[in-house]
Amino acid sequence: MNAEDKLRLAVLLDTAGDFLRDGHWRDRDAPVFADGADIEGAAIGSTNDTIDTASTANGDTLEAIAAAVRSCTACGLCAMRILAAPGEGAAHPRVLVIGEAPGSEEDEKGRPFIGPAGQLLDRMLASIALSRSTNCFITNTVKCRPPGNRTPLPAETAACAPFLARQIRLLQPAFILCMGRVAAQTMLHTSEGIGHIRGRFFDYRADTADAADRGEPIPLIATYHPSALLREPNLKRPAWEDLKKLLERLQT
Ligand code: URA
Repeated sequence: MNAEDKLRLAVLLDTAGDFLRDGHWRDRDAPVFADGADIEGAAIGSTNDTIDTASTANGDTLEAIAAAVRSCTACGLCAMRILAAPGEGAAHPRVLVIGEAPGSEEDEKGRPFIGPAGQLLDRMLASIALSRSTNCFITNTVKCRPPGNRTPLPAETAACAPFLARQIRLLQPAFILCMGRVAAQTMLHTSEGIGHIRGRFFDYRADTADAADRGEPIPLIATYHPSALLREPNLKRPAWEDLKKLLERLQT
């Protein structure tokens, strides 16, 4: 079993314990594991879907999108970033998870959701049998860190939107899960608050000039951002209710 499989198993067991004890996720750091002997077949639900196996009919690939994100200068955030965080996960995900924007850890490593909010996100996903290493792809509405973690400006979200659109076209997820207000409002073109948007299914449709290019609508559900749950633990229960709705749909 390698370190990633060990981590997935430990997160699953921790999460199960948290729910039995408290009825929701607790705040805890992810354990760190070293690679050990690779036990054949020990990985739970792992997949060989690697990032470079997805490509659309027009030849787009996740690697091409990531390279374009890393060299993007379409808005002012490029001048302040250390590394852009294009996104990561399964090449054929059931769920595309969309957050707001990278924070400081993400900016340093060029990976989405790896700080404290990301660790909680991983546990939230694990509780409904999802993970970035098997059946989810995780990204943000904006791929570069806004200074001081401020909310991305509309112009920054607009500049980054074509990357997200390419990722959605390529990944064709069965569901989209928006974490928090910014992702939900951006994807649904609404100014409604997250308290109104969360926990309901909407149809996401791509914004293309040509309606024939829009493809099938993708069911989208939003919940509270894990950072909000870390600040306000009483939001964990409603967030869990939202995730259960997604789980129910995933199982049918
Ligand atoms: N918050 C987000 O919305 N995205 C990240 O990648 C990290 C924190």
